[in-house]
Amino acid sequence: MKRIGILTAGGDTPALNATIAGAVTRANQLRLEIFGLIKGYGGLLNPEVPHVHLNPLFQTIPELDPARGGTILGASRDYISANDREMIERVVDRLHRLGIEGLVCIGGDGTLNGMQALCDYLPVVLAPKTIDNDLGLNYPDEPYEFVREPDPESAAGFRYSKQPGRTFDLEEMVNFATPGYATSVFVSVQNVLRIRTTAESHRRVAIIEVMGRDCGMIALGTAFGQPDMILVPEVAVDPEAVVARVTEILDRQKHALICVSEGIKDAQGNNFGAVRQVKDPAGNLQYSGAAEAVKQILVDHLGNAFFTRKRRNESADAAIFCRKIGHTQRGGRPILFDRFQASQLGGEAVDLLVDGRHNHIATLQYRDGGFVHEGIDANRLRDRWGVIHARPLSECFYDAKRFQPSSKGVSYLQAIFSEALGSEDLESQRPIFDTGHLVRPYDSVNFHISKRIRRLDPDGV
Ligand code: F6P
Repeated sequence: MKRIGILTAGGDTPALNATIAGAVTRANQLRLEIFGLIKGYGGLLNPEVPHVHLNPLFQTIPELDPARGGTILGASRDYISANDREMIERVVDRLHRLGIEGLVCIGGDGTLNGMQALCDYLPVVLAPKTIDNDLGLNYPDEPYEFVREPDPESAAGFRYSKQPGRTFDLEEMVNFATPGYATSVFVSVQNVLRIRTTAESHRRVAIIEVMGRDCGMIALGTAFGQPDMILVPEVAVDPEAVVARVTEILDRQKHALICVSEGIKDAQGNNFGAVRQVKDPAGNLQYSGAAEAVKQILVDHLGNAFFTRKRRNESADAAIFCRKIGHTQRGGRPILFDRFQASQLGGEAVDLLVDGRHNHIATLQYRDGGFVHEGIDANRLRDRWGVIHARPLSECFYDAKRFQPSSKGVSYLQAIFSEALGSEDLESQRPIFDTGHLVRPYDSVNFHISKRIRRLDPDGV
C-alpha cells in the first residue's frame, strides 16, 4: 500500500484528532501517504470528495493537534446504504481515482454498520470512538443473546431485544472503553459537582441528564461526582422506588441530586423521552425529555405540600429542576486517557490495514491490570442476523437497589479512571484567562484546513 484514506463518521468526540494523529504518526513511520476525507461518509457521497493530505513528505500537518477536541476532518452522520450498489460503486471508483488503497473509518457502531457497504470492494478497518462507550462486547458470546421479535409498529416489522446477560471477568470485555468516553465522564462529573452546590443551598432536587443514547456507561461514570442516584437505560425505572429513595434522601440532606441517562425506559421498554423523539440521517433516535419525565413523576407523587410544609420552595415544580449537560460532554480538550488510547488505536488501525486484516476493529483490551491494543474481526460483534448492536451497560455493573455502581462497576471505573488525568490536563486550564482572548476573535482550525483541501475532478477519469 502506498496511500490510505481516513475519515471521522458519526457524532464528534474529544478524542478524534488524537486518533487521526496516531494513524498519521504510524503512516509516517511506514512511509504511507494518508489522505483525510472531509465530513465522514458524506464526503464520499460528494463527487469531488474533498480531502486533505495529512502527511506531505511524511510529516504531520501542523493543524493536527491531538489535544484539540473534535475533528479537523469534520464529521457527519451520513451513511452509505448497503442496498445502494450503484452508489457504493461510485464511491469506490472515486477512492480508486484518488489512489486510496485502504480506508480507516473512525466511528462507533453506526459507522461500523455503514462500513460494511464498502468492505467487499476495498480494505477497510475501524478505529473506535464514541462518548457512549457502547462499541464492543461485555464478553465474546454476548451477540448470541440478541433475539428478534415481531413488532408491527416498526418499519422493518421486527425489533431486537436482549436476553439477560451473564457475569464475566473484566478481561473478557471486547474493547474495554472507547476514546471519548473518559473525557465525557470528566465533563459530566464536573457538572454534577457544580450543580450540586445550588441544589444543596436552595434545598432543591436537581435532575441532571447525560448522553449515552441506549447505554448507561456515561451515567455510571458520573458516580465520581457522587450523585445521590443514577438511573440508566438498561434497568427499567420503577417510579415507586425512585420516589421512595428521593424521599429518604430529602429527609436526610434536604436536597437531592439525580443523574439520569437520556435513554432511560419504563417497565414496558418505552423511552422516557419518547415524546420528543426525532431521527438523525443515520436513523438514530435522538432522545430528549428524560429528566423532565423523572421530574414529572416526582411532582405527581410528592406534590406541592411536601415542599411547602418544610418551606423548601413554593411548589414541587419550583423545587425540582432539570439540567441537560448536552454537547459540553462531547466537546473540548481530551484528557490523558483518551489522548493516549485514541492515538494508540489510530496507529493500530493502520497496522491492521497494512497487515491485510480487513474489516477488523482496533480494540482496547484490559490485561493483567493494564491495557493492550489488538484487532478483532468486525464479524465477532454481529448477531446471527448480521447486526451490530450497541453494547449495553452490563447489569452486573449497576446496583439497582442503591441506584449506584455495583462493586464490579466500581472496579471497571477504577481501571479506566485511576490514572486518566495527566498533570497537563490541569495545567491546560491556566490559559483560560489569557488577556489576549478578550481582544482576539476565535481562530478556527476549519479556516486553516480549508486552505489545504483538494478536490477530485468530478468529470475526470
Ligand atoms: O452517539 C453519541 C451521542 O453523543 C449520543 O450520546 C447522543 O444521543 C447523540 O450522539 C446526540 O447526537 P447529536 O449531536 O447529533 O444531537
